[in-house]
Amino acid sequence: MTNKWKPTDWRKKPIVQVPEYPDKKALENVEKTLKNLPPLVSAGESRKLQQYLSDASEGKCFVLQGGDCAESFADFHPNYIRDTLRVLLQMSVILTFGASLPVIKLSRLGGQFAKPRSEPTEKKDGKELDSYRGDIINGLDFTDEARTPDPNRMIRAYNQSASTLNLLRALSQGGYADLNQVHRWNLGFVDKSPQGEKYKEIANQITESLSFMEACGINSDTVPEIREMKLFTSHESLLLSYEEALTRIDSTSGKWYDCSAHMLWVGDRTRDINGAHINFLSGLANPIGLKVGPTLSIDDLLKLIDKLNPENEKGRLTLITRLGHENVSKMLPQLLKKIKSEGKNVNWFCDPMHANTIKSSTNYKTRPFKNILKEVELFFDIHKSENTIVSGVHFEMTGQEVTECTGGAQEISDEKLGDRYRTHCDPRLNASQALEMAFLTAEALKKIREEKNSQKKNIIANN
Ligand code: PEP
Ligand code: CO
Repeated sequence: MTNKWKPTDWRKKPIVQVPEYPDKKALENVEKTLKNLPPLVSAGESRKLQQYLSDASEGKCFVLQGGDCAESFADFHPNYIRDTLRVLLQMSVILTFGASLPVIKLSRLGGQFAKPRSEPTEKKDGKELDSYRGDIINGLDFTDEARTPDPNRMIRAYNQSASTLNLLRALSQGGYADLNQVHRWNLGFVDKSPQGEKYKEIANQITESLSFMEACGINSDTVPEIREMKLFTSHESLLLSYEEALTRIDSTSGKWYDCSAHMLWVGDRTRDINGAHINFLSGLANPIGLKVGPTLSIDDLLKLIDKLNPENEKGRLTLITRLGHENVSKMLPQLLKKIKSEGKNVNWFCDPMHANTIKSSTNYKTRPFKNILKEVELFFDIHKSENTIVSGVHFEMTGQEVTECTGGAQEISDEKLGDRYRTHCDPRLNASQALEMAFLTAEALKKIREEKNSQKKNIIANN
């Protein structure tokens, strides 16, 4: 971060994955309007998240990053936000139980609208149109009108993000997230499933522990942590006109913060070290994520680390690897060794979604549950062998009963994908699959905890 950096500097750099707006005047007007709208989050909150991320890099807490692949205007409904939050709450209870660690929730909500695409255009029935790039840019319908980038969509996305955040804040601090409500979070359709039953066992244990604590005088009135959850927001920093307009100087630190979310990440397709997106993120004081895909070389990764975290601050930079279940064993050990030997402070998150996408025999973009799980398991195993710390996981998931990823305990087959395939972009874990994934991740965390405890015992015994 240099003092000379300005939020507009990206405009002079090469850029990919952003729309060409036909009406430049309309774009300028929208940018001006956004610049005068209130920030969605505060710099102080982002600093708090960085502190938690720093703790996570030392194994003192664990981060669960999750939510939609792409939020949409059509799905905007309070129940939808509440249901996603419910699954995040349930997953974090399961993880807390497994790891005996506080779990920080980092949502992909309240700004996750813009999408990078593999192809700039889409062809259907002999017609070619711009690809859909997320509701903040254009519409999903396959018509000229819908696919034309419209800057006014940024205002709508801002307003939707503001309402989403408002509800998330109300739910996370207003009693809904109180651990005493742990039984209420089980979604109706998950309730009777094996995952729902397993969840109820944990919920019963929590209720019992809370009664015991209550008897000792510890309750949600005396300990606010019981009634409030730690929830932060994140999204991909892709549409830089929007991100720039929400970037403000923090009066306390004098630094630039992008106040559209607490954490911003750069995607695997826009991480060119000389490009606009990296330039933009390098100047922000927010915690930053960098997606690390199988085509990123170690040398380029090191350069990106130096550019994004020149002061080697803890909690500042999170590497979100998305290598694929077939590449992770080949690539991750070298990455971990090199970055450790160079003394770089980074957080390691596993995104087991983005390099495990395939086409089903029924022609749906899908992700097999077993491959997602495989990547998570290998990620934990490799970190264990390299003696490095897993600080978080990153899932695309929803609280809805969708059929987008195959497999899991529900055994969703290729033929079943069409039943409730609702995503605008990538296939997400449904609520039952997300819980199942949380149970399996919790087991991996538990193994690490048990190993550490037995190492400690051995040290004590040998002294
Ligand atoms: C995403 O997280 O939705 C995404 C597009 O990821 P990646 O940049 O890793 O492909
Ligand atoms: Co995605």
